[in-house]
Amino acid sequence: MTSSIAGTREWDLDEGQEDSPDPGRTLSQYGSSICTLRQNDAQVPTEAEQSSMTDPTARPLPFPPSHPEGFPPLEDEPTFDPARHLALEAPDRIFTLTDFGYSDAEAAACPSALAATSAFRILSDEGVACLQEVTRRLEPYARGIERISRMVRGGVYQSRFLRDLCFSPELAEAMSGICKTRLLPHTMPHQLGHLNFAPQEVGENVDKWHTDTLRFDFVLFVTDPTKIAGGEFEYFHGTKHEVAELSAKGRPLPEDKIVSVAPSGAGYGVMQQGNMVVHRAKALTAPGERITLVNGYVPADLSYPDFTRFDQLFLADPPHIATSEYARHVAWMGRELLESQLQGNPFSSDRACFAERLEAVAELLSQAAEEIRSAGSAKMEHFGDG
Ligand SMILES: [Fe+2]
Repeated sequence: MTSSIAGTREWDLDEGQEDSPDPGRTLSQYGSSICTLRQNDAQVPTEAEQSSMTDPTARPLPFPPSHPEGFPPLEDEPTFDPARHLALEAPDRIFTLTDFGYSDAEAAACPSALAATSAFRILSDEGVACLQEVTRRLEPYARGIERISRMVRGGVYQSRFLRDLCFSPELAEAMSGICKTRLLPHTMPHQLGHLNFAPQEVGENVDKWHTDTLRFDFVLFVTDPTKIAGGEFEYFHGTKHEVAELSAKGRPLPEDKIVSVAPSGAGYGVMQQGNMVVHRAKALTAPGERITLVNGYVPADLSYPDFTRFDQLFLADPPHIATSEYARHVAWMGRELLESQLQGNPFSSDRACFAERLEAVAELLSQAAEEIRSAGSAKMEHFGDG
């Protein structure tokens, strides 16, 4: 297994996206091509005008101005300071989607070639100590779903430290460099700073095999994984299609394709394109403390399909919060996509193309509206424990 993304240690965003889409493939939520304005008009748009009109790079969305009930704020927290609390290092190894067996076409349809990294350092010792303090204070709010027996979601509504850590521009820039595409902190607060705590029952997996309902996230060990028995974070070095096929036949995943991540201590994590990588968190084999933090990101390039699964989030989170956060997320995407159409002012008589660009946004909004109306009948998706 070899790393095939070069230069990750430099975190150089200027290198750009190697697999960037062609300028005509923008705006679509669904991966189909969006038109490029015809060049045969009397006043032909310049290349810059074309580019600015189709630039799908989104601006970040600030944290919501109001908080939902049931998330009381922590008092007397440490104050997040990126200079003291982050100790970012680059991963030694990066596996690409094609390393995992995805086709070139499948990889090109994603905003980054990255599948997953080896464990790398994210927090300083002081950052770990602060985060341990905050997460332990949030532990009483843990609740369970079908997949995970003890988790805290929405901790960013309660903890200023957690929110500032998850929103840290320094972190987002580092993760963008690793993924070689610009990432923004996730627009949905429940997709930021998700916390997993070990189940009360020794031998029960922390989380089952699954893919994420977002594009990118890192899994950070808040507590020291070398001080516990079991509790490994694992990913499958293959495609989600392979896992789906094995799962449908009731067969276990082949051991030789399961990668067990071995962080050196607390404050280390793994970055992944979480919707393309099947992963899980194993059970402890003896009592111990295991806390991990999962922080989500959205790609700033909105030309790729959005992998938010409202039907699944509706099952995982309080319905009024999932709905509110998703509606806000979709409104942000729509606003940013329309903003990209407002930039530049190309004059063209290519009416069909103008219409198609507007329809692409309308379709995105209509489909999300339909998802919101029809939520409630889905089942939670995962690939079980095997
Ligand atoms: Fe996950």
